[in-house]
Formats: sequence, structure tokens, C-alpha cells
Amino acid sequence: MNQPVVAHSREELAKARAVLDDGEVAVVMTMGALHEGHAALIREARRRARHVVVTIFLNPLQFGPREDLSRYPRTVDSDLEICAREGVDLVFMPTPDVIYPDGDPGVRVSAGPLGDVLEGQSRRGHFDGVLTVVGKLLHLTRPDRAYYGQKDAQQLLLIRRMVRDLDFPVEVVAVPTVREGDDLAMSSRNIYLTDSDREVALSLSRSLRAGALAAIEGPSAVRRAARAVLVAEPLALVDYLVLVHPQSLLDVPEWYRGEALLAVAARVGTTRLIDNLPVRLGPGGGPLESFSTNGIDSGIDLGIDPVAGA
Ligand code: PAJ
Repeated sequence: MNQPVVAHSREELAKARAVLDDGEVAVVMTMGALHEGHAALIREARRRARHVVVTIFLNPLQFGPREDLSRYPRTVDSDLEICAREGVDLVFMPTPDVIYPDGDPGVRVSAGPLGDVLEGQSRRGHFDGVLTVVGKLLHLTRPDRAYYGQKDAQQLLLIRRMVRDLDFPVEVVAVPTVREGDDLAMSSRNIYLTDSDREVALSLSRSLRAGALAAIEGPSAVRRAARAVLVAEPLALVDYLVLVHPQSLLDVPEWYRGEALLAVAARVGTTRLIDNLPVRLGPGGGPLESFSTNGIDSGIDLGIDPVAGA
């Protein structure tokens, strides 16, 4: 098992990155506390690229003042073990002063309207913080491809939009959500859950599955079936449960057939959890492993304007 090169500074990164210029490079960006979901991204990245770079950076810019930055799990040793096991070439593990040498950046990437809905509604400025650091890490690591999880569907969509709208020379690749044996979506935050929280937390994926089972019947049947599961679990404090178009994130109208995103966010105990399922609505409908397009330009064909709505 080869140990990855670990770079902390920009200089160390530039030097180690130059060595990888003999082949294609893929990057997997993380905030650490690596689990099997992150490992799946690394493995996917490995499949096509000669070299894999993993970034581990707990980005203060994407956490609100009342969020869990200070208690976010830090597991550096096991993170590096996972990177070594998965054959990662280079791990970039900077501190905030390396990424933000002048303090909080005055100029940031704006996520625009898609950053204000769903996660953005309860986490103001979150996606500006995400896109700003993702943009910086793309510049610093210079990958051919970058891998992101479907678990964070809105983040993935916004990164795709940024890459397209701002002409970043990188291919964005989505990886399906990795789940625990009990169907709970893997997350670094799952370690906050007590045993009883975890029982409650399972209502999220159960709700999504129930919704997907009604997909043949259309949007209102999906929403009704998914909501019924969550209503039966009052300890899951639901922030949103939506069935939206994968690019516009607007509620799909009742006539809509095709691919849609069924997404949920809820607080369980002290932990905020999110989960989602790509679904196909209409004939042959049900859950999808992943969306059939890159999630940027299919909506126009389907008659939904990504900006103005249906
Ligand atoms: P983090 O939450 O550590 O996630 C890193 C990557 O792993 C993201 O692309 C996320 O979608 C993916 N991921 C997390 N859990 C997953 C699961 N169960 N299955 C599949 N993929 C999963 O997302 C971030 O960090 C940050 O916002 C970041 C993009 C690194 C910017 O700071």
C-alpha cells in the first residue's frame, strides 16, 4: 500500500501536483471524516484517471454562525488510512489561513437564485461559501475531472452550473449516494445520532422510497406517499420535502413526466440530515440510480424553463 504524498501548503501542493502531469488527474473534494461514501467517489475517480488527488478542508466559509463547524468530526489519521487504502496519490490538507491568506475573501462566487432555495433557504450564504472554495480548489489542483456525490444534489447542481457558467476546464462527474445497510444515507454527521435518533432518521429514506413507489401515478401521489411516512414520525422535524425538476429545483407540475428529484431535509435530535432520490415519473416510473443527463440542459427539452419555471 503506497502512502499518498500529503501537502499542507500551496508550495507543497504545487510541487507534488507537477509530478502528476504525466497523466489525467481526478480530484475528490472533502471536509474530512471520510466514510464509504467518500471512498466510493475515490474509487470512481481511480477507474478513469491515472492520478487521484483528495482535498481535505473543513471550509469555514460554508458554515453559518450557528452551525456545527466547531463540533464537526476531525479524524485525520483514519482519513489518511482510507486515502492510502484507496490508492490516492496526493492529499491536500490545508488550514484556513492557507486557503484564505487575507482572511474571509471579499470577492466570492455567487450561487445565484439556485443557491437560495432548499438548503440555501435555511443556510444563507452556504452555497456561495461552497462554490468559492470549490473554485479555489479547482484552480489549485488543476484536475481533468472532479467527482461529487448525488447525496448533496443541490451542491452538485450548483458546481455543474459554476463550471459551465464560468468556464472551468474540468468535467464534473456525479456518484450515486452510498447508504448504510439500513438505507440511511452515509454522512459524516451520522456519528452525532444516538441509537434512538437513528431509528427516527430512517424515516427519511423510508419516505423517499415510499414516494418513489408511487412514481407511476405522478407528482401528487409521490408527494402524498412520501409525506405520509414523515407525518408518522413526529420526532423528525421536517425542513422540506420536495419533488422538483433536477435543474431548476422548481416543484414539478402535476402534468410533468420524466426525471425528478425527491429531496428531504429534517432535524433529528441535534443533527440536520438531508437525503434525496432521483425518480422517474410516469410509465415505467420509480427510483433511478442516477439521472440520465449531466443535469444541466435536459429541462429545456422537457418544457420547463430552468430559470422562469413551468
Ligand atoms: P463532504 O460533506 O465531506 O462531502 C465530500 C463529497 O462526498 C461530496 O461530493 C459529497 O456529495 C460526497 N458524499 C458525501 N456523502 C456521500 C454519500 N453517502 N454517498 C456519495 N457521496 C457522498 O460536500 C462537501 O464535503 C463540501 O461541501 C465540499 C464539496 C468538499 C466543499 O467544501
